[in-house]
Amino acid sequence: MRVDDRVHFCPPGRLIIGAGSRAQLPALVARLGYRQGVLVTDTFFSGHTPWVEEYVSAARALGIETLVFDGGAPDPTTTLCDQATAAIRAALDGHVPDHVIALGGGSNIDLAKVLCITLPTGRPTHDFVKGLSPSDRPIPFVALPTTAGTGSEATPGAILVDPENATKVAVMDNSLRPQVALIDPEFTYCCPPKVTADAGIDAFTHAIESYLTLDSSKFDRAGSADPGYSGRSSLTMIFAREAISLCARYLKRAYDDGADIEARTGMCYASLYAALSYGSAGLNAVHGIAYAVAGATHRSHGTTNAVMLPYVLAELAGTRAEELLDVARIFGIDSSDPGHAIGELCGQIRSLIGAVGIPTTLKKIGIEKASLPSLLEDALGVTRLARAFPVPDVKAAYARILHNAFEGELGKSLAV
Ligand SMILES: NC(=O)c1ccc[n+]([C@@H]2O[C@H](COP(=O)([O-])OP(=O)(O)OC[C@H]3O[C@@H](n4cnc5c(N)ncnc54)[C@H](O)[C@@H]3O)[C@@H](O)[C@H]2O)c1
Repeated sequence: MRVDDRVHFCPPGRLIIGAGSRAQLPALVARLGYRQGVLVTDTFFSGHTPWVEEYVSAARALGIETLVFDGGAPDPTTTLCDQATAAIRAALDGHVPDHVIALGGGSNIDLAKVLCITLPTGRPTHDFVKGLSPSDRPIPFVALPTTAGTGSEATPGAILVDPENATKVAVMDNSLRPQVALIDPEFTYCCPPKVTADAGIDAFTHAIESYLTLDSSKFDRAGSADPGYSGRSSLTMIFAREAISLCARYLKRAYDDGADIEARTGMCYASLYAALSYGSAGLNAVHGIAYAVAGATHRSHGTTNAVMLPYVLAELAGTRAEELLDVARIFGIDSSDPGHAIGELCGQIRSLIGAVGIPTTLKKIGIEKASLPSLLEDALGVTRLARAFPVPDVKAAYARILHNAFEGELGKSLAV
């Protein structure tokens, strides 16, 4: 508890977790009174797993019809969202479905979130990038994540590539949070190592970034009565801390051995707990700069976050030393010399990123030195994230982070 906290905590409507829990879904959907749904996925799941067919036939036996749309793709664009809207509306011949289900990683979940708001009217995705109005009523949403993970099943936003923008854009509103988030760890067992690494580092980044972010008492809600993100609180920090601890224990294990069921399950909890933290607290510089790096390199979300993470943490040694020392202790680092411990933590995290096959400098992912100023401008342009970075001079801090991430400079002993 912290006396000055201003908690505005927004979890999904229902959270279901457990190996094999997908078998409960048809009866739950029937119980909720839904009868005509759209299941959004991609061809990996429709073609190479039994899960789509199993669900559709079990739901049909209970009187629920489901249209399968398997045109999902990694990092959905606003164009894909509009094409999917048109295709599904045509296939349903004017009928608006009463629920949307997403099966897949963050990409399919985000595409489905957008469809919840575009399918009723056919309006273009761009109409919702600036926010939803009270009269916009999204279709109820059920999220079945297959990666661990983005945590999109517990957040208010869909993150999209916009062909007209250098960085990613978001469609965001608390009404887009799922009615049901069902986490069946068995969905993640077939994740290949690259997806396991990217998604795992994404979850770790969510946990640590939201643990260190701006306090809820200082967060600018821009007058919103129902903010999607509102800064860290003692409540979000409980989830963040547990997620960091689970990632320290299980991320590398899940990458090394995809058949390690305890590690797979541990990472599912880590991903969800991280989302229960950042899904209300919000994020800052790692994601803000990573969106710009993703725009420039088209590398995956997990990779672009991972490459920035150690350098952002090093920059926070001055303003978030206490919390960084908490994290250092979780990693088994002796914290008696704070500067050394934080340097050691940043180094260990960078080694972990390298050990799961992700590049550890901007140079290594193909950024040219000459493009650092435009990256800085694009990153600062994601103002909702820049404003939440808890340092006195965000522009100077972002410039130092970009320089260090390009050169791979990580002081072993940091000024605290
Ligand atoms: N909305 C949010 O709150 C939020 C948060 C973080 C990230 N994101 C977005 O999520 C996306 C990244 O999602 P992701 O990391 O989950 O990956 P992804 O959804 O992009 O999937 C990557 C690939 O892995 C495959 N895949 C997924 N699960 C699999 C499984 N169990 N077995 C085999 N293959 C599998 C997919 O078919 C796809 O080809 C990015 O676009 C990012 O912007 C959204």
